Amino acid sequence: MHTDFRYWLPFLTEDVPAALTTPESVARFELKQALPRIAPDMSVTLCRDDSMGEGFRVCRQGNTITITGGEVGLLYGAYRVMMALYAGEKLPADHAQQPKYALRMIDNWDNADGDIERGYSGRSLMFEGGRFDYDPIRLRGLARLMASVGLNVLCINNVNVRNPAHRLIEDWLPQLAEVAAIFRPFGVRLMVSIDYAQPMRHGIDTADPLNERVQAWWNEQCRVVYAAIPDLAGFLVKADSEHRPGPFTYGRNHAEGANMLARALKPFGGNLVWRCFVYNCQQDWRDQVTDRPMAAYQHYVYLDGQFEDNVILQVKNGPFDFQVREPVSPTLLAMPETNLAIEWQLAQEYTGHQIDIYAMMGMWQEVMADLGADKVMAMAAVSNLGRDECIFGHPFAAVNFFGYGLLSWDPDNAAAGDVARLWAKLTYRLDAKDEDTLVGILLESRGAYEKYTAPLGVCWMVVPHEHYGPSPDGYEYQAWGTYHRASRDAVGIDRTAKGTGYAEQYPAELRDRYSSLETCPDELLLWFQRQRYDYVMRDGRTLIQRIYDDHFEGYEWVEAAEKKLTALPLPEADKAIVMERMTRQKKNAREWRDVINSFFYRFSGAEDEKGRPLYL
Ligand code: GCU
Repeated sequence: MHTDFRYWLPFLTEDVPAALTTPESVARFELKQALPRIAPDMSVTLCRDDSMGEGFRVCRQGNTITITGGEVGLLYGAYRVMMALYAGEKLPADHAQQPKYALRMIDNWDNADGDIERGYSGRSLMFEGGRFDYDPIRLRGLARLMASVGLNVLCINNVNVRNPAHRLIEDWLPQLAEVAAIFRPFGVRLMVSIDYAQPMRHGIDTADPLNERVQAWWNEQCRVVYAAIPDLAGFLVKADSEHRPGPFTYGRNHAEGANMLARALKPFGGNLVWRCFVYNCQQDWRDQVTDRPMAAYQHYVYLDGQFEDNVILQVKNGPFDFQVREPVSPTLLAMPETNLAIEWQLAQEYTGHQIDIYAMMGMWQEVMADLGADKVMAMAAVSNLGRDECIFGHPFAAVNFFGYGLLSWDPDNAAAGDVARLWAKLTYRLDAKDEDTLVGILLESRGAYEKYTAPLGVCWMVVPHEHYGPSPDGYEYQAWGTYHRASRDAVGIDRTAKGTGYAEQYPAELRDRYSSLETCPDELLLWFQRQRYDYVMRDGRTLIQRIYDDHFEGYEWVEAAEKKLTALPLPEADKAIVMERMTRQKKNAREWRDVINSFFYRFSGAEDEKGRPLYL
């Protein structure tokens, strides 16, 4: 038995038996085991109404609660009621919920060899040694975690599809169907990442989307796939990105490429999720004109309205690549006639590898405020899960998975503070003071991480490839399009109309906000502007002094957080992981502080006004 559910469902004690095959039966089982522990005098009645789909309604009369909903809605309602009761929330007498988005997806980046691309919680829960290898009990536990926060799609393999993962939709279909059956009782459907050039493994000498043999191959393959798994959610595709094959090879655009696959999936109700992470990864660093964040917009926006209705374009939250601070991707604001999904990254690739504490809810809230919840019709997030004893690597990384579920259910009801508070209550049951301490640490963690890493929207000062720890020039002379162009006088890139023009990709309000020094947020200053070190910020500090201050403060936060955590009564197993990782975070933060400060000190020659140590 794995106790992965301890991270917000600790009132459960038993695994869901394999014999239960419907969401309604799971809901009854969970309520039966939990209620005696959390609310012994309450009774809960389930009332099926399929017209409500995934939604549910909860009515309370005295000690009786009635949950009405479609089959999966009943399960979602049951988890919400259990969590509310356990957290001591007062249930409203009558309230109804519907998910904001139809697809609430987790994308595993798991490889068949058991490795996880950007995985920080151990090896794959699905694969090992080039084949499926999983613990069905643990997968059922994962399905339970997903359902408890309303997540309903799991893409099981890496977007970079490498041999033998293409077999998932070929001779591995029987095993894929077994995994689908594990998730089905929890309302979770599987999705598969596919290799765009897959027909070329079968004697076809092209993957041109307009080629009839290619089309026929996919049509037939979709028939085979859906015969095995009739409720598969669809395919996920990374094409023409970072050396993956795609339609560009054949002079076709991405509507032509995506639509070919979408038409093959359509008869079976499948979705084609097409990623927009497309840019030139072989740029010459001397090239001052090409600006990587502009790429997705250039490749996709002119195609708005040309995609089949079962195509969903999946766009990363920011135009670069999950950096610590990015403005919302302008592509998401410019395609009103296209189905869009926003893609987040729970895996802490650039945000501390689940060693450093980094709660993401604040970022989501800010991005969604600029985006508007109706601009997208789905959400996706790269998973932060793995085979470690703590499935999230770091116990506190659980809050990101939990919060992401609530966000994709209803972004208007997932305020950072509420999510952190509810998660802390459910997971640890601390007294009020300790709970405040923990919630405070979670909510401040992102700002602190931001302070001790690359300053004010600069991005990419990170160790190449590994993406943990500082390397200010690590990406500066490489081909990835990731430059800060620090000199002895100034740093940053002018992305306004006078510079690369990136800011012009936004609607007027955001364009103006980011283009003007009066209104551009400090945290994005160097993303949008090139500034001298002696530039005076709104608060009167020079830019260089702000950089120094942030780095010293970020590190000091870590020292203070370590002290607070030492005193926090967490369960022993979690405490050991938390403290061990905190030691590494402190080392990391110290390194970032001194490397970044020294880097700018050496360029600028400016002393720290407070006389703290800088290194020549
Ligand atoms: C980043 C990440 C890669 C990943 C890619 C993607 O570049 O470092 O490992 O494959 O994003 O999102 O496709």
